[in-house]
Amino acid sequence: MKRMLSEELYRHSLGVAKAAASLAEYFGESKEKAYLTGIVHDYGKRYTPRELIEKAEKTGLCLDRVTRQESRLLHAPVGAALLKTEVKLEDPRIIRAVYYHTTGRKGMNGLEKAIYLADYIEDGRDFPEAGKIRELARSDPEQAMLEAVEFAIKSVLRRGLLLHPRSVAFRNSLLEKKREGSNL
Ligand SMILES: [Fe+2]
Ligand SMILES: [Fe+2]
Repeated sequence: MKRMLSEELYRHSLGVAKAAASLAEYFGESKEKAYLTGIVHDYGKRYTPRELIEKAEKTGLCLDRVTRQESRLLHAPVGAALLKTEVKLEDPRIIRAVYYHTTGRKGMNGLEKAIYLADYIEDGRDFPEAGKIRELARSDPEQAMLEAVEFAIKSVLRRGLLLHPRSVAFRNSLLEKKREGSNL
């Protein structure tokens, strides 16, 4: 990966790997797998959106309407497919965590959650909300994840971009779970 990614992207990937490994235990995942997934999660970013669309067509990968139109989303599902064909990485759990790392989804497993949250709290993230989410992740990773996806949704709305329905389903599922917990 160090050879395949730009220096900046590799540094970010390393940060995500470390953060994901530190969250792994909480989410019932192996540290090694979380670390490896962090290292490869942005593999798709080595290509331009146009290249990603071309590669998706070549590999027969179906992309939904929103993903096709939003270049920021493309690198996740296409990168996941390319990890299989170009890197020969076969682990379905790793591939799945890479596939969903930008939108999230309802019912994410522990590895997917660790990567989703790690992408927001890795040490290189310096926007003000990242500090708050990072702090929260130490005591309450579920709440940190809810705040991360809400931050992501707000930033999509603020920038006038298309919002992926999976992110809405993800956010609602976290909130529902939180409400169930507080009603016990
Ligand atoms: Fe990404
Ligand atoms: Fe990332």
